Amino acid sequence: MTTAIRRVAPAPYNSAVRRFPQGFTWGTATAAYQIEGAAATDGRTPSIWDTYSHTPGRVRNGDTGDVATDHYHRWREDVEIMADLGVSAYRFSLSWPRVQPTGRGPAVEKGLDFYRALTDALLEKGIEPVVTLYHWDLPQELEDAGGWPERATADRFADYAALAAHALGDRVKTWITLNEPWCSAFLGYGSGVHAPGRTDPVAALRAAHHLNLAHGKAVQALRAELPAHAQASVTLNIHHVRALTETAEDVDAARRIDALANRVFTGPLLEGQYPQDLLHDTARLTDWSFVRDGDTAAIHQPLDFLGVNYYTPTLVSAARGEAGHGSDGHGMSDHSPWPGADDVAFHRPPGNTTAMGWAVDPSGLYDLLTRLAADFPAMPLVITENGAAFDDYVNPEGEVADPDRIAYLQGHLAAVHRAIVAGVDVRGYFLWSLLDNFEWGYGYSKRFGAVYVDYPTGTRIPKSSARWYADVIRANALPTLPE
Ligand code: FCB
Repeated sequence: MTTAIRRVAPAPYNSAVRRFPQGFTWGTATAAYQIEGAAATDGRTPSIWDTYSHTPGRVRNGDTGDVATDHYHRWREDVEIMADLGVSAYRFSLSWPRVQPTGRGPAVEKGLDFYRALTDALLEKGIEPVVTLYHWDLPQELEDAGGWPERATADRFADYAALAAHALGDRVKTWITLNEPWCSAFLGYGSGVHAPGRTDPVAALRAAHHLNLAHGKAVQALRAELPAHAQASVTLNIHHVRALTETAEDVDAARRIDALANRVFTGPLLEGQYPQDLLHDTARLTDWSFVRDGDTAAIHQPLDFLGVNYYTPTLVSAARGEAGHGSDGHGMSDHSPWPGADDVAFHRPPGNTTAMGWAVDPSGLYDLLTRLAADFPAMPLVITENGAAFDDYVNPEGEVADPDRIAYLQGHLAAVHRAIVAGVDVRGYFLWSLLDNFEWGYGYSKRFGAVYVDYPTGTRIPKSSARWYADVIRANALPTLPE
């Protein structure tokens, strides 16, 4: 019998051992398009990511999710791997076009059967299934009808949420509506480095609002279908934004990016209103009249916890004549994902970087968690993603040694522990990712897994970090390495 993510009593601080609270949720995470493959199997129809990845020039090396890690056929093996790791929870997403092809009408039983069998196998192993409804794979037909910039897409999403909860609500207790709506809106419709690849700043802002609305309507639909003890949440990639200097111009640049990255979501979702400074900063692009009466109340639904994804901090300044918006770590495009903030420059934070070029900085996670606890004191937090890509390879002994990933995880888990000791209500941690997988615009060139995937054969090889993570979970504590 598994239990939903729950309140846990902090353990006393012990800098030598760093023990986590009893009952802390240790998990791992994936997303449907990144691992499943079987793109045209059992009635699944294309999503925007199928279309995008099949468009020449969009994804590195022309990679697609057609086969991916073939999890759709190898899921039993993957559940065994998780049982060996000893995780208490697994966060995965449902493929919308597998469950409800074209995004309208009845569910496809074969698609649901896949998730029924997967969740049954997880529950048998004592692993709590944590379902994300939307990890970026909008049915292509809904994009053809206008996609997230259109209000009707929010209604389609609520229908899909109801149908998924009806089918799986007897076995899934923990539900996350959206994964990182910032990426869906601003990378999908602003910079175009994610599907559907549009580059229209106003469409991006409209998409952000309709994603918020979709979340609010979906939470209402979930609560209507699910038993009272079920949990509903959303996962945000809250950017930990730092100003390059303390000058008023740089501090203001950080405020603007914080509004566009974070408060455009936390405002309506957690406080029931859009921040005034955001409306003001974007006023020359739109009057936000797509926000109708009653929308922010519909978006502002009680949540059981907030899911937080963290990889690296964001360092900004006022642009001082630099060309373009600089690299913000979200892929290269001539179009900015930051509507109305063309005068903000992005800088690479100091320190080592991962294979993504992202700075390794656990202090960003600590600062983010303590800030969220200060801003939303009653809201429990769950780290729904954290991890790193490195250039892993199989050595002649057939093993994958990844000391850099172990150091990354050690540092970030120490930051989580420090936040818990400081009184932040962090209830769980999900390592991104269980398996190497399709890393969106980077295709298979970036490996985030604790388990290595040999793509030509599909063979899985747990990396040294997988063994390290299993030890952490078993001990419910971090080994005593220097930070
Ligand atoms: C997050 C995504 C996830 C994965 C990691 C590296 O933004 O949610 O699917 O791509 O980044």
